[in-house]
Amino acid sequence: DYGVDAAVSAFSAGRPVLIHDATDREGEVDLVYPAAAVAPEDVARLRNDAGGLVCVALPESVCETWELPFAQQLLSHPAGADHELGYDERSSFSITVNHRGTFTGITDEDRALTISELGAAAGRIATERRIAGDGAGSAIATDAERFAESFRAPGHVHLLRAAPGGLADREGHTELGLALADAAGVEPAVVVCEMLDDGTGGALSPTAARAYADRNDLPYVEGSELIARFG
Ligand code: 5RP
Ligand code: ZN
Ligand code: CA
Repeated sequence: DYGVDAAVSAFSAGRPVLIHDATDREGEVDLVYPAAAVAPEDVARLRNDAGGLVCVALPESVCETWELPFAQQLLSHPAGADHELGYDERSSFSITVNHRGTFTGITDEDRALTISELGAAAGRIATERRIAGDGAGSAIATDAERFAESFRAPGHVHLLRAAPGGLADREGHTELGLALADAAGVEPAVVVCEMLDDGTGGALSPTAARAYADRNDLPYVEGSELIARFG
């Protein structure tokens, strides 16, 4: 299935979707799941079928609550001075984390625990913010300590921090995936991983990604369609 409606209903049911950002941006298709629904077999699919970097994207409001910075802000090393990305103004990389219940952090079971607990915890923050009255003047106190009770850093799951205005500010997989989570009414945390082509090592083409979607009965959606609906 293709398009926004198929993607929203898959996400509502905790199932993954394929999202192509744009040919004039990264030109990548990410395999994207609602984080709270991720189980060990889903991490296996991410590393075997997608093959890129497994990251969890969080909205700016949740990152603010947990005081999760952009990685670049933490670096005093000159390698962090200028990103010079060819496809965007800025990277969304934040810190890397493991759930404190993990052992090494890298196994399918460990990463699934980290990812699903990030999803559950982000859902709790979103609920608290709603109760407190969301928005710029929200009464929710920042609480880095509370995050640190459950997660340690560095770890084996990359966090991504979305732009403040979401899709209005930035059109990356970070914001596209979170817009889909919002529309689907699931917790505001998504796991994303680039689909790589095992033959060439490059990004999997949209055509090949659609064929993968068809074979596996997964929705495929263009970033432009998500932006037209939710941007
Ligand atoms: C992290 C990335 C991915 O492209 C991911 O999709 C998040 O980045 P963006 O929001 O820029 O698309 O590079 O592996
Ligand atoms: Zn991307
Ligand atoms: Ca990428």
